Amino acid sequence: MSRSQVIPETLSGKRIVNQIRDVLDNVSIPAEQPNKKMIPLSLGDPTTFGNLMTTDIFIKALQKAAASPAAHGYQHTTGSKAAKEAVAKRSAAATGRKVEAADVFLASGCSGALDISLQALASPGDNILLPQPGFALYETLALAHGIEVRHYPLLPHKKWEIDVDALEQLVDDKTRAILVNNPSNPCGSVYSKEHLCDVLAAAERLNLAVIADEIYGNLVFSGETFYSMAELAKNVPVLEVGGLAKEFLVPGLRVGWIIMHDVELEDGQTALQNVRRSALRLTQLTLGANTLVQACMPDILTPKAGSPEERQLAQFNADTIAQLESNAKFVTKRINSMRGLRATTPQGAMYTMVEIDQSQIAMDDVKFTQQLVDEELVFVLPGSCFGMANFVRIVYCAPEEVLAEACDRIEAFLKRLSTAVGN
Ligand SMILES: Cc1ncc(COP(=O)(O)O)c(C=O)c1O
Repeated sequence: MSRSQVIPETLSGKRIVNQIRDVLDNVSIPAEQPNKKMIPLSLGDPTTFGNLMTTDIFIKALQKAAASPAAHGYQHTTGSKAAKEAVAKRSAAATGRKVEAADVFLASGCSGALDISLQALASPGDNILLPQPGFALYETLALAHGIEVRHYPLLPHKKWEIDVDALEQLVDDKTRAILVNNPSNPCGSVYSKEHLCDVLAAAERLNLAVIADEIYGNLVFSGETFYSMAELAKNVPVLEVGGLAKEFLVPGLRVGWIIMHDVELEDGQTALQNVRRSALRLTQLTLGANTLVQACMPDILTPKAGSPEERQLAQFNADTIAQLESNAKFVTKRINSMRGLRATTPQGAMYTMVEIDQSQIAMDDVKFTQQLVDEELVFVLPGSCFGMANFVRIVYCAPEEVLAEACDRIEAFLKRLSTAVGN
């Protein structure tokens, strides 16, 4: 007998709102032309073009782990002791705080860490404060769990700093946390110590926890200093989330973490004691992060002080940053020489937001993206994907010659536009 009914869509499935998909469903990607290849400057995946490659140390550690049955089995759902100790040791050195393996919860990528953090802090009906523009997954995850989102503005002409006054206006008795993403996707900004202290002071006044998404913390350009929220926070509980994806150029390997930076209360309890308990239970839903990759973490996160491996890892990080910084300078200089576009100078990460001057280019970001990809096969992401219309986000991980070709094509596109309107 053949089936007569389609299985209905579930509530869980329907609750997944994907801002990027919603915008991109209105953009059609043309087929490649024989003499013109598509240049995708849209995905925050540094491996797309093959020019950015992880370190040999990681590859060797993976090979060693692949040959070891101990790295193939289940681990504790929050991660293996050795991997968590490595994350804790590095965090303690970076923040000057006491951090132990018990403060660390490994997850499937930083995305998994964000998912657990949000659910451990907020129940359905509670709300959390998110940056706008911001990484779209924050909202997708929160809404999937019935958590309301409230967006606080980032100020494009003040280096994308947080509008702290506007943020404070959003808070009510159901607000559970402020999510701060520094360095930022999509803005490429790196906040000053003073600014982060202002945000922390607000969190303290409002009695809120902070989720600090610091996945780009080790990808900061020369002349800039990265301060982690945990190193500056005194009376604010901080859930620091991060992962291997960006720093080690391995987004597909899927290991991230939460580090609970707790606050002791006068009665001997701690601010995050329940959050830790919830996070532990939540890891039991997924049974933890990839164990093969966990086995590599001591080697890549905590090489022996003074060893050749330590030097090699430092060099790898310096080379990655140098490449990204040089690409950032190249792209922003080229874009800023074009009439009608203004790129903000990135201070870290792998993104720049480019403003479309509406007085010169009478097109919104979605139309701009569509027409650019149709005519020139250069694919950027509309700012609307991040809640910021009239901007587009460019990822500058590609080799310089590819970026040069993309910029030539954007320039040709703009010239045709201005000729068409007689400018
Ligand atoms: C700000 C930010 N947080 C988290 C993630 C997710 O990282 P992962 O690939 O480790 O899940 C990304 C990925 O692009 C990101 O840009």
